[in-house]
Amino acid sequence: MKAQKAKPTLEIVLLAAGLGTRMKSQLPKVLHTVCDTPMLGLLLNALSSGLRRQDCPVEFKGFNVVIGHGRDLVKKAAETAVLTEGSGNVRFTVQDQQLGTGHAVKLALENSSGATLTAVFNGDLPLFTPEAFADFLNTHFNEKSFATLGSATLDDPAQYGRIVRKGKNFSGVVEFKDANAAQRRIREINGGVYLFDTALLKNCLGKLKTKNAAQEFYLPDVFEAARKQKKKIYAHLFEDSDLLRGVNDMKERAEAQKLLYWRTAVTHMKAGVFLPDPSHTFISPETVIGKGCTIAPFSFLQGNCVLGDGVDVGPFCQLRDVTVESNTLIRAGVMAEKAWIGADCAVGPMAHFRPGTRLKNNVRVGNFVEVKESTIGEHTNAAHLSYIGDAEIGSGVNIGCGFVTCNYDGRVIDGKRKHKSIIGNNVFIGSDSQVVAPIKIADGTFIASGSTVSESVPEPDSLVIARTKQVTKPGYAKKYKK
Ligand code: UD1
Ligand code: CA
Repeated sequence: MKAQKAKPTLEIVLLAAGLGTRMKSQLPKVLHTVCDTPMLGLLLNALSSGLRRQDCPVEFKGFNVVIGHGRDLVKKAAETAVLTEGSGNVRFTVQDQQLGTGHAVKLALENSSGATLTAVFNGDLPLFTPEAFADFLNTHFNEKSFATLGSATLDDPAQYGRIVRKGKNFSGVVEFKDANAAQRRIREINGGVYLFDTALLKNCLGKLKTKNAAQEFYLPDVFEAARKQKKKIYAHLFEDSDLLRGVNDMKERAEAQKLLYWRTAVTHMKAGVFLPDPSHTFISPETVIGKGCTIAPFSFLQGNCVLGDGVDVGPFCQLRDVTVESNTLIRAGVMAEKAWIGADCAVGPMAHFRPGTRLKNNVRVGNFVEVKESTIGEHTNAAHLSYIGDAEIGSGVNIGCGFVTCNYDGRVIDGKRKHKSIIGNNVFIGSDSQVVAPIKIADGTFIASGSTVSESVPEPDSLVIARTKQVTKPGYAKKYKK
């Protein structure tokens, strides 16, 4: 048997030290979200899944993130992304002064893991994909190149660096600020993704100068030095130019977000999800949706939502980190976060499920009902106008209109500020009732409407009336009006 050839090692440098002046924001550019995830996280996710592919031609050594502006926040975001993706290790290089992309990479190499290959990515590339990354790596090897960069052709090349070619061959990158009129007419642009032989990169970085319009160390100037050493450089033209969209201002951020929402919508539609108006349906890239689901327009599925088969989400819903089991109907205007909604439920319109909500199967929750940190048992109904907080409600319970769990009285009991209401199976709660927690109501209890129940009911099947007795005085109304 032939011994397997060892794969070359790779480190990925992510440039994320800039503030992004054109964003006109105090938040570092790469932390601005696109479809709900910070741009840096999207790129890290894409690269990580590219590296996990079977056909990945390199042995990954780790990420090296260059940080500067808002370094603590950027560091945390990168660590979170790497942790949730389980994609190896991440190190950080601090660039105190942003003297240019070339300077940033130089510092990163002084702090590198010593891989034989170094990939460099601008941090503001939210639309790059695992497939594009695999394609890029393979091109580098197929072309036997020492340095490979990604390019795209744009109708409006804006302020991107321009790719200059001599015939078919790459000759160099000219920054927009430094380009003459003829060069500015070039529509092939530098996308800010690179792969280098590390030794060559090191050598060429040493030759960078700041004699340019921005007076910065430009990373793409390394190609000039590499060319002088007659090393092969290959500019790989990505056919889908959206892959290399850089985000520099809020307009470009909105455009990138629209494209990513669209890309996600198309994936789901191809998998059998019906989106009656896909350009006005906002599904985050992490969302998992079963077969035969319908999502109406102006609904947002954010973070990690999971929908089972046959779920119907009405218009104007906002779900974040929510699981919905199969064949459940989510009517218009439902807002839910960190909630679990069982199968065959019907909820809304205008229901609010706060973190810790668990609805078992076949539950009905109607309009203007708020649920928080509570479990609601099977076949229980809460059809109108209620607050259910810190409660455990059994199965087959009828919750009348206007029911409130009074879970907060300003006291702290056993270290807890909010108190629990435990309501058994088959309890009937008449309309306009309250239970004052902590409280426990036995199975089969019947609570008369208008009751304020402040004492636990230990005996099953009790009738509870906790309201003042009615007084009726014939003829008194006329007297009273006088
Ligand atoms: C850069 C390229 C340009 C290319 C474009 C693609 C240079 C000189 N130009 O321009 O050819 O067309 O990207 O989008 O590289 N950064 C640092 N430290 C610095 C400077 C920048 O970490 O000292 C980071 C930024 O935070 C950003 C990335 O590098 O994430 C790119 O910087 P940016 O200013 O957006 O470069 P462009 O002007 O867009
Ligand atoms: Ca940029």
